[in-house]
Parts: sequence; C-alpha cells; structure tokens
Amino acid sequence: MKKKEILLFGATGQIGKNLIRKLSQNNYKITAVTRNIHRAGYILKTQANPGYLKLVELKNFDNEKIENLMGNCDICINLIGILYEKKKNHFKNIHTILPDLLSKKASKYKISKFIHLSALGIEEASDSEYANSKLEGEKRIKLNFKNSIILKPSIVYSVDDKFTTHFMTLLSRMPIMPLYYDGLTKFRPIHVTDLVKIIFEMVNNNMNNIVVECIGPEELTFKDIIEQLLKSINRSRLLIPLPLFIAKITAKILQILPKPLLTEDQLKLLKYNNVSSGNYKTNFDLGFKADKIFNIEINKYSYNWRSGGQYSKNNKIDKIK
Ligand SMILES: NC(=O)c1ccc[n+]([C@@H]2O[C@H](COP(=O)([O-])OP(=O)(O)OC[C@H]3O[C@@H](n4cnc5c(N)ncnc54)[C@H](OP(=O)(O)O)[C@@H]3O)[C@@H](O)[C@H]2O)c1
Repeated sequence: MKKKEILLFGATGQIGKNLIRKLSQNNYKITAVTRNIHRAGYILKTQANPGYLKLVELKNFDNEKIENLMGNCDICINLIGILYEKKKNHFKNIHTILPDLLSKKASKYKISKFIHLSALGIEEASDSEYANSKLEGEKRIKLNFKNSIILKPSIVYSVDDKFTTHFMTLLSRMPIMPLYYDGLTKFRPIHVTDLVKIIFEMVNNNMNNIVVECIGPEELTFKDIIEQLLKSINRSRLLIPLPLFIAKITAKILQILPKPLLTEDQLKLLKYNNVSSGNYKTNFDLGFKADKIFNIEINKYSYNWRSGGQYSKNNKIDKIK
C-alpha cells in the first residue's frame, strides 16, 4: 500500500511527538516542520520507524517553502500554538495569521484534509487575547478550506505536558497554593494518547468539514485537579482562594519571567469553564471514547516530584489504587 504523506507543523510539542508515533506505526509518512532541526532531530528521530519521518527546518513562514511542502502532501496537520507571548511570538501571528496562510495553501494545492488544533472554551472568553486569536484562526480556516477539521481540546496532559508537570513542580516547592476564582473553574482533561487516537481517526476515516470538542471522561474543577496532584506527589499544602486584585498583581509580576508561571491573559482565561459548549459534537458523540482517568495516569509519572523519587513509599497513592 502506498504510504500517505502527512505534513505536520508543531511536531516537537507534546501532541506532535505522540502523533508521529501513532501515524508512522500505521503506515503514514510524515514530514515534520520545525524551527530548529538539530533540537527536533534529537527529540523526534526515535518516535518513528526508519523511513517514515523527514525533518524540515522552517525559520520564517516562507511562502515558497510552504508551497513546496504543501504540493507534496496528502494531509496537513497544524499543531503550532503558544501559551504566552514573547518577543516576535504573538498570539495573532501564531494562532490567526499562520493558520490562515496554511489553510490558503492547503486549498490552493487541493490536499485531501486540513486538520487544525484550536482550543476548548474560547467562545466565551472575549477578554482573552489567546482565545480571540484562536477563534479568529478557526474562522479564517473555515473560509479558506471548506472541508477543514478543527479539533478543540480541553487541557491535554501527560508526562510531556506543561500543565500537570508545571503544577507538580510548584506544589513540591511552595508551602501554599493560590486558588484562582476559588478553584471552581471546570475542566475535562484529556490524556494525550486519547487525543492522538481522535486525531488519528480524523486522518484515517472519511471525516471532513467538522469541528469536534475533544474532552476526557471526567469533569474536574481546578481545585480537584490541584488536590489530585497533591495526593499523587504525597504532599499537603494550604490551598488559599486568592482575591482577584492580588491574583492580577502576581500575574503582572510572574509574566516577566522568561518562561512565565502565569500571565495576565492566562488569568483571564482561567475564569471560563473549559468544558463542552453544546455547540459542536464531542469525541464521545462521534463514538471516539477518551477513557484515561486523571489520577491513574498522573500516578504513572508523579513519582518524579515525590520526595524519594521512584523509590518513595507513597501511602496516599496506595489508597488510590
Ligand atoms: N496542551 C494543551 O493542553 C492544549 C489544549 C488546548 C489546545 N492545544 C493546542 O494544541 C496544539 C498543540 O499543543 P501542544 O501541547 O503539543 O503544544 P506544545 O507542546 O507547546 O508545542 C507547540 C509547538 O508549536 C511550535 N511553535 C511554537 N512557536 C512557534 C513559532 N513561533 N513558529 C513555529 N512553530 C512554533 C513548536 O515547534 P518548534 O519549537 O519545534 O518549532 C512546538 O512544536 C496547539 O495549537 C495548542 O494551542 C493544546
């Protein structure tokens, strides 16, 4: 069987790495685009079987190079995204202008599928620049590429994420943990392997012209998540609801860090529930179950943050089992 050619932007990220493995195991050939081929080579080369992965370096989004790549692929998947703005990495460039450009080229070269990763819960969050830029990106894609597939995940977690790992680091170091908006914001965390299965279904089946909200099996509040992480790393911490004006001041300070712990825009976004809107189908509606349970999955890697590491005796974990 002829291997189908997939052009993958954002391949080095949490989702990209896992997706490369799944696609190459299933006879898809991948061209992974990255800004730094040396760093990416080190991360990605072991994810695919020999002959299934080609790396291409693209520093600026050069029209001609993108056309060349698009002209040689069957399916394009865009996983490029940022959580905060730094230097030239602006939300508008990354979440709106780039998807606009890619979807126009995908249409020009009449490729069979254009799959784009947006985000859940952004429709309500009109005061967040992240949310607005993602939403505008979705609109442009729908205009440019009629049969696009847009996937909107809730928080995606795994040992490679920037969420559970980030909070386990904070929780293991700080004596108290602030709860924004009283910790009541709701999420539907989805494990990266469950999300990758959904993306794979979109690639492999006869799906087109659809928006899917990608959610995990449980609804957890921010407080539930922090409590489960604490239990998993075997620590007790004081959870303190933080008045909004203090939260805003801390975000103003924390966003100065090279890798910000919290930005003002993220604080705005945290106000809105990250659960299915009812406006689109979810993966469950389409029969693509996500069944990985949050506390079971985080226990597989949380030992890194327990005192004693993998040899720690964790009574609380034993109780969870
Ligand atoms: N993770 C989540 O919880 C979550 C939730 C909802 C939506 N999403 C969306 O899903 C997509 C993938 O998420 P992820 O967790 O895999 O992201 P990630 O781990 O942060 O990876 C982001 C990718 O974007 C690329 N990138 C960042 N800035 C870039 C720039 N200026 N130019 C070119 N490439 C750039 C990076 O590629 P290089 O550095 O190799 O060039 C990297 O491969 C994103 O669009 C994200 O917004 C994620």
